[in-house]
Amino acid sequence: MTQAVKISPSILSADFAKLGAEVAAIDAAGADMIHVDVMDGHYVPNITIGPAVVKALRPHSDKPFDVHLMITPADPMLEAFVQAGADIVTIHPDAGPHLHRSLQAIRNYGAKAGIALNPGAPINDVEYVIDQLDMILVMSVNPGFGGQKFIHSQLKKIEQLRALIDASGRDIELEVDGGVNPQTAQLCIDAGASALVAGSAVFHGKAGSYAQNIAALRGGSGATLKAVNG
Ligand code: DX5
Ligand code: ZN
Repeated sequence: MTQAVKISPSILSADFAKLGAEVAAIDAAGADMIHVDVMDGHYVPNITIGPAVVKALRPHSDKPFDVHLMITPADPMLEAFVQAGADIVTIHPDAGPHLHRSLQAIRNYGAKAGIALNPGAPINDVEYVIDQLDMILVMSVNPGFGGQKFIHSQLKKIEQLRALIDASGRDIELEVDGGVNPQTAQLCIDAGASALVAGSAVFHGKAGSYAQNIAALRGGSGATLKAVNG
């Protein structure tokens, strides 16, 4: 596999007072997707943004909006997020009563469907819904906040999911979310991740640093860029 890992910066770590400009900046800096963390103060102990903000941000980038719902119940909000411009909608299996139905609904509304596995969640949550999945998101921190420490036990889960996806022959993105920095990014890539979410590792420094921050997460290219820039 020689395809470069995709980088999906989490706007949770952006400056919320100028979110449109921040989304445009990470787009220009080489982001492959835009990761939007939606929190309800109920499923997770934090509140962030809703469909109105996703809609407002939509004109600021043509890149896929990778919308991570940490809300329960998720079902009543799925259509609104797709209508607002979400390209991928990812849900947690314990955030609603009928996972298979929810994934079907996301696709019926016209988006790609993802499942997010918390650090304590088993991989067999995906077994009977794999034909409904376009993405599997491995949480390498407990959801709710940016800037947490990477939980290394999740590397084994990434390896197991990589084997499962390859055995299925399906085109399923394997994304890792939480505590991703240039060091842990490499571990995730080695374990089989195809996409990485990063909040604090992308949004540090001024907007002028974002391209270098993103490149550093891709491994070799980051090192090269750093060398070129001294
Ligand atoms: C946590 C979110 C993550 C988070 C990542 O609940 O799902 O996307 O923003 O932030 P960092 O990269 O700072 O760990
Ligand atoms: Zn997320």
